Amino acid sequence: MDNRPIGFFDSGLGGLTSIMCLKDMMPNEKVLFYGDTARTPYGSKSPDTIRDFSKHIVEYLISMNVKLIVIACNTATSMALEMLREEFKDIPIVGVIEPTVRKVAKDSRKSVGIIGTKATINSDIYNATLRKYNPDIKTSSLACPAFVPLIEEGIVDNKIMDLTIKYYMDDFVKNGDFDSLILGCTHYPLISENINRIYPNLKLYSSSQEVIGDVKRILTERDMLAKENDYKDRYYASDLSENFLKMTDNLFKNRDKKIKLIKLG
Ligand code: DGL
Repeated sequence: MDNRPIGFFDSGLGGLTSIMCLKDMMPNEKVLFYGDTARTPYGSKSPDTIRDFSKHIVEYLISMNVKLIVIACNTATSMALEMLREEFKDIPIVGVIEPTVRKVAKDSRKSVGIIGTKATINSDIYNATLRKYNPDIKTSSLACPAFVPLIEEGIVDNKIMDLTIKYYMDDFVKNGDFDSLILGCTHYPLISENINRIYPNLKLYSSSQEVIGDVKRILTERDMLAKENDYKDRYYASDLSENFLKMTDNLFKNRDKKIKLIKLG
């Protein structure tokens, strides 16, 4: 048994969608979340910058005595996971990409579309990982760089978001030969209802959700699951934007939580 919190981080609000899944699947687990809201979006930044930011956050989470770290960000996973595992060998670090690909492979999907940030899509990591599991799988990828800034601004449940989705995705879905779609960015579950409504025939895979299965497996294998305890979830951010406060309130209404501004680096 291990009652220490699980550390989560993301460039901004997106990683909160993974915590929602954790709370559904493993309600005893407590979290320390760090959202780098001052420096979001990561998706249009260079690999070195993303690695630097990710390293600072992991150092901070380790200093806060977390028991496992979830990189609740596809962009940071694609750029920094290997480097972070190499550098911080004493703590399990889980990324969002491999668990999602494993689920797609388990469902025997033959063709899949992938949407994500520019950095994630340019890294080609989803294609490479999908082919590792199924060399014959057909993939089509698309970067949708305007989604994250709109979501961070809370522009979600309205026509502007719908038009932006169509602007990026109409041709992609029409011309692409796929029946399922990986939401390769942890911000995207916040617009999954829009995507589902506009393209009802696509089966959606959420990278935010699949990673929690891995967390459960690792903590169980290592006998590190938490028992009920009075640790309060902590939500830290590098900028306490109005939207971060609104979003944490909306998502975690009745849960005891502490929100604080922490600047790193
Ligand atoms: N939620 C992130 C991801 O999964 C963030 C994207 C960004 O900061 O651009 O890729």
